[in-house]
Amino acid sequence: MPSVQVRSLAKINLDLRVLDRRPDGFHELRTIFQTVSLADKISIEYVRGRTRIELKSNFNIPDNLVIKAADVILQATGATGNLRFDLTKRIPLGGGLGGGSSNAAAVLLALPILLRKPLPVEKLMELAAALGSDIPFFLLGGTAAGLGRGTELYPLPDLPGLPVLLITPGLHVSTPEAYQRLERKLTTGAPSPMMNDFQRVAWSVASTPPGVAWEVKNDFESVVFPQHPQLELIKGKLLKLGARPALMSGSGSTMFGIFRSVELRNRAASWFRKEFEVGQIHPVSLVSRRRYRAMWRRQLQIPEGGKLWPSQP
Ligand code: C5P
Repeated sequence: MPSVQVRSLAKINLDLRVLDRRPDGFHELRTIFQTVSLADKISIEYVRGRTRIELKSNFNIPDNLVIKAADVILQATGATGNLRFDLTKRIPLGGGLGGGSSNAAAVLLALPILLRKPLPVEKLMELAAALGSDIPFFLLGGTAAGLGRGTELYPLPDLPGLPVLLITPGLHVSTPEAYQRLERKLTTGAPSPMMNDFQRVAWSVASTPPGVAWEVKNDFESVVFPQHPQLELIKGKLLKLGARPALMSGSGSTMFGIFRSVELRNRAASWFRKEFEVGQIHPVSLVSRRRYRAMWRRQLQIPEGGKLWPSQP
């Protein structure tokens, strides 16, 4: 019985700007995605026979994207059979860390290989975008600029594996509501091709180490902080403890800080563990695309040097 066990990583947004509302209901984004080392575990077993998709997890998640992604892959490959997923969640749910999206991408990457029916990366990107705006990024990993809905991706050079602290208070922020609160106007045309703020940030992220030169921001902070003032306090404390930058991820509620050294990061983690009554504190590190791909090749036993990663079995 073929089976595979994979790690599915979380992401943070190093920068996030929401431009206009588009006629299709989505918002035009400019963001910089970054994978981090916090991971869920997914094991997949495949048994020939009648088609059935089963999911076991340490959390009960309605409308789990793992099942939707599996369904989509069965349709795209024409495969049939019994799929059994066991999902161990560590990435906080609904925390702006893309846990569900990452799980879906993990299924898109792993399942065709397990079924010995690899799909070209273009097809995987198309299926990923149809399932959710953050999913295509997890087919790429590392540091990447996301445009359009967030599904149009441009790889940026790898950053070093810097230490990061993730603070996820146990409060829920609804993503569609956060978008609505921004009250963006309906799109009027193509965004300016001139050197804009986002382009400046992407260049600085690609060419300088994290720190003062990164004038990063997350537009959602302006609508989420007034509702949850606790998040602004966490940001202030992260900055005081030496994080550069400290920012909210996605539409929240996870706050992250990037640190110059593991010592500084660990000191900040100890402070939050002692002084702050929050949900979850995770010391992690940035994961470059080189490491992300190496991890995926290892998990799927794909030899180095394949032409169209990740489509070769
Ligand atoms: O694509 P996804 O399912 O992740 O999006 C969830 C919701 O977030 C959408 O229904 C939409 O309300 C909002 N969204 C948006 N613009 C984006 C991405 C998401 O308005 N670029």
